[in-house]
Amino acid sequence: MIKMKIRTIKELKGKIKDKKVLVRTDYNVPLKYKGKRIEIDDDFRIRISLETLKFLRREGARITIITHLGRPKGKDAKLSLEPIAKKLSKLLRTRVILIKDYSCIEEVLKWQTDEIILLENLRYNEGEEKNSKRFARKIAKHFDLFVFDAFSTAHRKHASTYQIPSMLKTYAGFRFVKEVQNLNKVLKTKKKIGLIIGGLKINTKIGLINNLADRSKSILIGGAMMFTFLKAQGKEIGKSIFKEDEIKTANKIIKNHEKKLVLPKDAVCALKREVKTKKQTRVFSTEEIPKNYIGLDIGPKTVKLFKEEIAKSKVIVWNGPLGYYENKLFVEGTAKIMRWLSKQKSYRLICGGDTATVVRKLKLDKKFDFVSSGGGASLFFLSGKKFPIMKFIEKQ
Ligand code: 3PG
Repeated sequence: MIKMKIRTIKELKGKIKDKKVLVRTDYNVPLKYKGKRIEIDDDFRIRISLETLKFLRREGARITIITHLGRPKGKDAKLSLEPIAKKLSKLLRTRVILIKDYSCIEEVLKWQTDEIILLENLRYNEGEEKNSKRFARKIAKHFDLFVFDAFSTAHRKHASTYQIPSMLKTYAGFRFVKEVQNLNKVLKTKKKIGLIIGGLKINTKIGLINNLADRSKSILIGGAMMFTFLKAQGKEIGKSIFKEDEIKTANKIIKNHEKKLVLPKDAVCALKREVKTKKQTRVFSTEEIPKNYIGLDIGPKTVKLFKEEIAKSKVIVWNGPLGYYENKLFVEGTAKIMRWLSKQKSYRLICGGDTATVVRKLKLDKKFDFVSSGGGASLFFLSGKKFPIMKFIEKQ
């Protein structure tokens, strides 16, 4: 469990009129490319920053926002923050000035009044990911204080998540606090936990499994990683995707958590991933998937089994879709469990980018106790590890 008292922006009430405030958000949002046009596919991460930004505006602060977008290698026009500046401007009904050349910061700050300044993609500069002090100072020197509201980047030790907070007095934004409080509920609970784990890579979830397994009633495995587990058990998985290099890890988990581990009994399969009709899909037992078939979702028997298992726990943590949700023919397993779970009384936490995308596409997000904006960050936190930035926002 992580015990902490953190400095939050609530403490800034009445104290920041005309102060130059630097805000780190995470606007690393999914994009859609339509010819030359770039659109935001899901603006969730922008919307969740509004509470903090509106508060700072009401308090009369002069706001500059920093964020990264994607993983560019140097400057990449496809990952410019232009669409984000437009969206933010619409949502806040104010002008958002995108600064591409950081050496202009001082000039723009001189005449800034009600406008919001957004600095172009931090990761265009190699100093960001290199956690460079020099790069951090280049930005930090213009500001009076720093607000950190980018929960989903908090596991990174980069210039904007580590060096800048070491240089400016730092306060946690509203969203960051909400995320930490909700994830902490899981770490603190004395109740039995039900873990639902999907996606492909076991290695990214192993910390979470190890940290919560002792207090878990059941650990349900779906998504592509189920085939790594089935393969580890020596079963025929046809052409299903699995990770050869994670078979050892799967075996370890099977050995250590045998009684709690629940693997799918059946799978929805097809001859290729991009099939278009239900007729092209078949359900097979996971005891033996035919050699030319690919497993792409959990089957109906597994849906029933998973519901029975989940019902045994009072706290549910779900990370990773249970099937190849990008094709709607294989989102059913995830969707059926989500719809059912959305009506249960347990404390239900959804985390991980893809899982959060599915829950929002199904319009069920308001029905869960909390949908985390963090992928890697929520896994890091639920593994029991402490974010590097905590050092600068924790109260002594
Ligand atoms: C995320 O999308 O999880 C965060 O923005 C962090 O992105 P990164 O994994 O590229 O550091």
